[in-house]
Amino acid sequence: MRAQEIAKSSELAEGTTAKFMFVRGGKPAEGFVARFQGRVVAYENKCRHLPLTLDYADNRFFDNTGKQFVCQTHGAVFNPADGLCVRGPCEGASLFPLEVRESAGTVWLHAGEPQP
Ligand code: FES
Repeated sequence: MRAQEIAKSSELAEGTTAKFMFVRGGKPAEGFVARFQGRVVAYENKCRHLPLTLDYADNRFFDNTGKQFVCQTHGAVFNPADGLCVRGPCEGASLFPLEVRESAGTVWLHAGEPQP
């Protein structure tokens, strides 16, 4: 498995997110990476109750408190640390997690498949 660079650490301050494309099952998919409580986490950008992105294509994933992700369409609320939906239509389901690592100022995706 090939690592894919998805962000520079310097561009991912606490409470911010960045989107990226990756390949799942031979098809392009969108993911997002966030820094939450100092840690970098990443998920596929797809709600678990309908195949819609959480943001409005505007890279807004955190709610106003900065402590939870929120679906901009229906208001489902997710824990950033583990992707669990704690309120809303998909309560109890989790966002699909993506394995990321941060080293030498770069955030790498280790899940998914190599880009074509
Ligand atoms: S698409 Fe599932 S809560 Fe919005």
